[in-house]
Amino acid sequence: MSQHLEAFRRKMEQAGQSEAAIAQFLRGLELVDQGVDTSIPEATIESARDLPKVADLDVQADPALLAQSVVIKLNGGLGTGMGLAGPKSLLEVREGQTFLSLIVRQLEKQEQSLGAKGRLLLMNSFSTSSDTMDYLAGIAGGERAEEMLQSMVPKRLVEGGTPAEWTAEPSLEWCPPGHGDLYATLVGSGKLRELLDAGVRYAFVSNSDNLGATLDPEMLTYFAQSGAPMMMEVTRRTAADRKGGHLAVRKSDGRLILRESAQCPDSDVDAFQDIERHRYFNTNNLWLRLDVLEQVMDSHGGLLPLPVMTNRKTVDPRDADSPAVIQLETAMGAAIECFEGAAAIVVGRDRFAPVKTTNDLLGLRSDAYRIDPDGAVRLDPARQGRPPVIDLDSKWYKLVDGFADRFPAKVPSLIDCEALVVKGNLRFTEPVTIQGTVTLRAAGEESADVPAGTYADCDQLV
Ligand code: UTP
Repeated sequence: MSQHLEAFRRKMEQAGQSEAAIAQFLRGLELVDQGVDTSIPEATIESARDLPKVADLDVQADPALLAQSVVIKLNGGLGTGMGLAGPKSLLEVREGQTFLSLIVRQLEKQEQSLGAKGRLLLMNSFSTSSDTMDYLAGIAGGERAEEMLQSMVPKRLVEGGTPAEWTAEPSLEWCPPGHGDLYATLVGSGKLRELLDAGVRYAFVSNSDNLGATLDPEMLTYFAQSGAPMMMEVTRRTAADRKGGHLAVRKSDGRLILRESAQCPDSDVDAFQDIERHRYFNTNNLWLRLDVLEQVMDSHGGLLPLPVMTNRKTVDPRDADSPAVIQLETAMGAAIECFEGAAAIVVGRDRFAPVKTTNDLLGLRSDAYRIDPDGAVRLDPARQGRPPVIDLDSKWYKLVDGFADRFPAKVPSLIDCEALVVKGNLRFTEPVTIQGTVTLRAAGEESADVPAGTYADCDQLV
């Protein structure tokens, strides 16, 4: 092993990281050091076609499978895009209900209707663990949730390729490895063995901010009967998803793969963005056969040969003059190429409602969505599958604090809203209903309150 790799190994060992996490990270680092070409030219892939659709499934749900299943929620991210410093899943969705309390409710309802017990496992990180577990200890049913702690990985100096050191704030020497860390965390925490020993064979994994991702008993049964080692829920790309990654079939071995924009050569951008050619994207809802996962990882020396992504940043992200570093990340869905016979299934947008921005949060808090008795959050049927398009002025609303100041109580009614654009520093303190396509503008930089009332198909100065 090269001297550099040895230094990374030592650093991770000293920080108490598991052998599985170390092996996974060192493999990625080696690929980066060797400058391995990660691009996926169009000529090497085919479109993914003729995938089964969840709407066409004809299976009788087998309730007994719930006892052999675990629901895993990815809960290690911080939602930095929304300015959060704690777990996003603790944000309120409706009065007194958070993402996490609804996830617990979803499992309990499922158990009631199927008459069997399931398990709930959170993948937390060092940044989300204590807040999450403290919160769960205080809510009904919260004690049901188990946790496993994902690893942290060292940042690599661009200059010299050694582990970054930053004595002013040593925690900045580390970064989260992305949700592809799921596999190493399952092994390194001992959870994979524990689950298998307890007779658990199936895992349904999704983002903790996606309340549309419930453990669907028909899909579980379909997955179990299919014998596939992994099944990815994908959904149709729309014009708005042109720039995001897509599913494809690799010509060399016929396996399903994901291609992210960073992996697409410039000359193939048109094909990449062609949503009729490459129709599907990954919802990050995944079904896994845990016994096969163990076998495949064993066959690769205790890791998964995942594609590695690199992000170039400065060691202190707030200090542009601090040394440049590379952060290594892997994505959970990219593992689809590691499994012979992996499958994909087409689902509707109802199973894909992650909250990435405060625009998403406003929609979710509004009456355009309803919380069903099973704890699932779904678009109101009156919307016919189309969420309202929301564009809040990023200067004032991008961060959750700014958003909360400007929507201090009830959010506007959006059940009949096609699109809402807010420009300027407006506060929504009074009952407001939005219908059709509406733009509301502040006259100046000063904060202004939006008067109570109904705003229908208008572009209005407040
Ligand atoms: P994303 O990284 O796609 O988005 O995580 P995010 O959490 O919204 O974060 P920002 O705004 O980009 O910072 C998708 C899911 O994966 C989890 C997150 O908690 C989220 O549920 N995740 C992400 C992890 O569990 N671990 C990670 O290292 C990264």
